[in-house]
Amino acid sequence: MSVEPVPASITLDPQFRVGTVDRRLFGSFVEHLGRCVHTGVFEPGHPAADARGFRTDVLELVRRLGTTVVRYPGGNFVSGYRWEDGVGPREQRPTRLDLAWHSTETNAFGTDEFLAWCRAAQVEPMLAVNLGTRGVQEAVDLLEYCNHPGGTRLSDLRRAHGASAPYDVRLWCLGNEMDGPWQIGHRPAADYGRLAAATGRAMRLVDPGIELVACGSSSPSMPTFATWEAAVLEECFDVVDHVSLHSYHDPSGRTPSAYLAGAHALDLAIGSVTATADHVAARLRSRKRLGVAVDEWNVWYMSRWTDPDPDAWPEAPPLLEDTYDDVDATMVASLLVTLLRHADRVAIGCLAQLVNVIAPIRTDPGGRAWTQPTFAPFARIAAAARGGVLRVEPRVATYEAESGDVPLLDAAATYDDATGRLSLVLVNRSEDAPVRTTVDARGFPGLVPEGRLELEVAPLSWSVVELAPDR
Ligand code: AHR
Repeated sequence: MSVEPVPASITLDPQFRVGTVDRRLFGSFVEHLGRCVHTGVFEPGHPAADARGFRTDVLELVRRLGTTVVRYPGGNFVSGYRWEDGVGPREQRPTRLDLAWHSTETNAFGTDEFLAWCRAAQVEPMLAVNLGTRGVQEAVDLLEYCNHPGGTRLSDLRRAHGASAPYDVRLWCLGNEMDGPWQIGHRPAADYGRLAAATGRAMRLVDPGIELVACGSSSPSMPTFATWEAAVLEECFDVVDHVSLHSYHDPSGRTPSAYLAGAHALDLAIGSVTATADHVAARLRSRKRLGVAVDEWNVWYMSRWTDPDPDAWPEAPPLLEDTYDDVDATMVASLLVTLLRHADRVAIGCLAQLVNVIAPIRTDPGGRAWTQPTFAPFARIAAAARGGVLRVEPRVATYEAESGDVPLLDAAATYDDATGRLSLVLVNRSEDAPVRTTVDARGFPGLVPEGRLELEVAPLSWSVVELAPDR
């Protein structure tokens, strides 16, 4: 028996814009975790590896994914990382315990390899500094190593390692998830805020052109959510450009609709973070507006996590290698819709992670590389979303979820003045009924001569529609 479609309508107008699509919304993340780096992006000796050990089959998929920014080297890993271990002659690099993931790190891949890999992948690097076990000096040193032209010990060291031109890394995270009690070096918000301010100020003395991201909350479900941001920004508001927000979604034990409502929860959380940042701005009588860096987001079957064997310290073990399905793909589409809808404030988005670890790309060591169902929505939306983001308010029935009344249809639209192309992303959260949407597009007579479109999306699925002028 076929189920009657749910009626919906949206009105699009080229005049009503939320903001511009920042290409940095389509970022991703490479951490020294499990097999993301080793046997993921980097596997010397693999039949598809180039002379540097970069897997070219993975590079090809990364380019097809259309990711724009890649964050590195963590994640929790960064909070115990000594960046000096990962540069210079390989045979002299120390093997270390990775306390974050209870693994052994060989350091065969480090900052120089990552930045060379970014060039090969045609992505912008986003580096995180360790504010867990280290501080101002080590952060400044890494920045000098990366960005100073030459004539100093650390910039000349980079040159001696083969990179004569500065890497010119623009984006820097001041630590990772410092609100989380699991984080190495976790500390109270005000302490972290002061450390972030001191580190950021010193880093700007080396390179005033960098952009800095302060750690916000590791999840909106943290008991300290919003109070953490307020206390941190109270200390470092003037120094930083963005505040981070992490957002993972576990489907386990939820109905598909309840799970898909997670994107609505992210929508509210972004609103709360911007409100908190703007509250600090108001208190400081500042007109500055911070961006939100959603620099870790994805589906993550966290409930499948098992604690590591306390006696084992494996090298590149298979950790968090979640296998995704079509509903997870719909969730990824919906989370991207959420980021797009906040294009006025969300400046950076990083799908966490890129390869093997909760990732759209998987590899076999010594074998093939392949894509998961979550690859397609990311690639399709990253390619289609261009120009300005239009305000879209779907009129459709809602259902009740943890975050409140959630619309059955989730939607975003972009319009590119340069090409005259209109793109629409639609997500149907209903478990059994298609959603039939009437799109009033009278403002686009060249694209929609009749002024209206009818679009139908199947239950629990996503769709991208692109309209281009006849040329
Ligand atoms: O992406 C996996 C982990 O999730 C990261 O290391 C950490 O920042 C977050 O908790």
